[in-house]
Amino acid sequence: MTDLYNLLACPRDHGALTAADDVLTCATCSSAYPVREGVVSFVDAAELTERDRREQSSRDDEASWYDSMFEGYTNAIEVPTVVRRLGDPQGPIVDIGSGTGRITEALLQLGQPVVALDYSEASLRTLLKRCADAPAPVLAVQADIRRLPLREATFHAATSVQVYGHIRGADVRRTMLQSIARALVPGAPFAVTNYNYNLMFRAWRLKGNEGAREGEHMLGGDLYYIRQTGTEFKAELAEVFDVPELVGMRNIPVRKIGAVLHKLGLQKAGDRYLEWMVDRGHRVDMALERTPLSHAVGFFWLAKAVRRP
Ligand SMILES: C[S@@+](CC[C@H](N)C(=O)[O-])C[C@H]1O[C@@H](n2cnc3c(N)ncnc32)[C@H](O)[C@@H]1O
Ligand SMILES: [Zn+2]
Repeated sequence: MTDLYNLLACPRDHGALTAADDVLTCATCSSAYPVREGVVSFVDAAELTERDRREQSSRDDEASWYDSMFEGYTNAIEVPTVVRRLGDPQGPIVDIGSGTGRITEALLQLGQPVVALDYSEASLRTLLKRCADAPAPVLAVQADIRRLPLREATFHAATSVQVYGHIRGADVRRTMLQSIARALVPGAPFAVTNYNYNLMFRAWRLKGNEGAREGEHMLGGDLYYIRQTGTEFKAELAEVFDVPELVGMRNIPVRKIGAVLHKLGLQKAGDRYLEWMVDRGHRVDMALERTPLSHAVGFFWLAKAVRRP
């Protein structure tokens, strides 16, 4: 664990941290950060605004049921599609906004240490249980992704899945991208997803639904979200990173098609369809990533960004 602490730095001034008695102390400003049962905490609740605290608490609440949303098809697509973009990193990896760890768990299979960073402590506790038997070590870090406690030029790859579209304000997103870039070694890949303002959401918007584009409540919680066009997302990333690849991901509305079949009374056909999509059909979805159609229909964007030399 002590070795993993070397991957971190003070979020206030990037000072080096020394560990003693379950506390990390900054050599520059003397701020002290506690380690509580395996979670290093950089979140001083007093620094969060009331709105931040509400969002953080919504994330703690969803930790107990979050994973059930992704069983089956979504995981069959998202996890391998994201991890593949990293290649074979030869050093530590950081998962930004790791949540309960479905991506972190797959990253650990690459055999490198992983820092899992999120401000929801409940999510990190689930993550630690899930990753207990992983083939590489994981360090759970409770921190605000707008103030990253990561050491400079240290990580050989990064991921951030379903997080970018929850960050309010282009300026804040830019600062976050800059600090992620700073933590990466030159040339390192960063696989990042975002919500796609796709054809379906544009149609919704035309019908007068404001929330199709941007809103404050998602999944019944106090969660800000924004959906972006490919041009918008790429432009924000390109201010900081090279962006060699941008594709639409989860291109087939599998759950909707399943639900329609069930509604038509075709229960068995619906079940068989869903099973087939999870086992094999997801490859069709992945093949669509390479076509322009994915930009129009993909539920998510997936960008491979690369830290500039
Ligand atoms: C939709 S979940 C995605 C979790 C995980 N990456 C996955 O794909 O399953 C978004 C995560 O981002 C985290 N998050 C959002 N804003 C954050 C912030 N400002 N600081 C730290 N974590 C944040 C939430 O706590 C939550 O776990
Ligand atoms: Zn400091």
